[in-house]
Amino acid sequence: MADFTHPGWSIYIAVVTLVSIIACVLLAMLMSRKRKPGEKIDTTGHVWDGDLSELNNPLPRWWLYLFYITCVFALVYLVLYPGLGSFKGVLGWTQVGQYESEVERTNARIDPLFDGYLAQDIPAVAADPRARDMGERLFLTYCVQCHGSDARGSRGFPNLTDRDWLWGGDPDTIRESIANGRTGIMPPMAAAIGGGANVEQVAHHVLRLSGSAHDPVKAELGRDGFDACTACHGAEGKGNPLLGAPNLTDRTWLYSGSLAAVMDSINNGRTNQMPPFGDLLGDGKIHLLTAYVWGLSNTAPRR
Ligand code: HEC
Ligand code: HEC
Repeated sequence: MADFTHPGWSIYIAVVTLVSIIACVLLAMLMSRKRKPGEKIDTTGHVWDGDLSELNNPLPRWWLYLFYITCVFALVYLVLYPGLGSFKGVLGWTQVGQYESEVERTNARIDPLFDGYLAQDIPAVAADPRARDMGERLFLTYCVQCHGSDARGSRGFPNLTDRDWLWGGDPDTIRESIANGRTGIMPPMAAAIGGGANVEQVAHHVLRLSGSAHDPVKAELGRDGFDACTACHGAEGKGNPLLGAPNLTDRTWLYSGSLAAVMDSINNGRTNQMPPFGDLLGDGKIHLLTAYVWGLSNTAPRR
């Protein structure tokens, strides 16, 4: 692989570029002879269809001058902007520099707006229609791919519009979830409850906890096995927000409430991750998102 950072390449490319431009100018000059007064119409000698001949007239002046102007423009451009090998151009312009200055300008305009909202508590921000719009736009940019455009989630991705929370739904906890991310981990539990038929029996017990369809005999046999689960899901199966362990007694399911899905959780465990957004978005945007998410199940109109 050639080393394209070698200065020789830069010089080579610069020379090719300059020679091409100069050659264009020379070619145009060569072709730009004026028609002498009284000169006959010149043809190239090519004739088609008997009488259709190709003329060899001088280039129109306006076209020629336009062409010279573009060549001058190219040279001026190559002096001012990067383009000639690795020469950076006398203006020092870079794509990165332009991007950064645009971001800076936008931030300077928007930061005071964020600061204003940062000074307000979450219910106040959630009640502000403009803040809600901003929060919604942020949500549509950063959160929809997992939680859905209506924030109702899908299998494995929690619904954020109900009042059922894995980790907790007060403003501080929601902020924590968004800024630092969450990892919900349930280890495979089949061995801990004796494997075999026990898995199905404990699963029927879990379904009974929420009043879902279940086999009462198997559920009864699974009652003791559930002791292995209470450390995380609580003695009554109501979950533990400190671990992100879901409440198993409601009918809100992260992975569906089918017997197969419950057995799958027990057999294989679950590992589920919400990525952290604090560093990417900064306090101002996290605050708006917190208010937006909180508002979905609190003051904001339900959708
Ligand atoms: C890559 C997928 C993904 C993206 C993107 C994502 N989330 Fe999540 N989010 C998850 C998962 C998965 C969980 C559940 C974690 C668990 O099981 O403990 C979660 C959990 C949450 C929770 C906690 C819910 C509860 O019940 O306690 C909140 C709040 C949340 N997300 C908000 C957001 C917001 C706001 C955004 C956009 C900035 C976002 N999420 C972007 C996947 C995602
Ligand atoms: C070490 C803690 C821990 C133990 C022990 C544990 N779980 Fe879990 N369980 C979790 C966590 C955390 C989740 C959520 C995983 C996620 O975020 O995806 C979960 C999820 C589940 C789910 C999915 C719930 C839904 O809404 O879809 C079921 C069902 C379940 N557990 C049943 C059990 C049963 C039955 C046992 C005992 C055999 C058990 N768990 C033991 C922590 C635990």
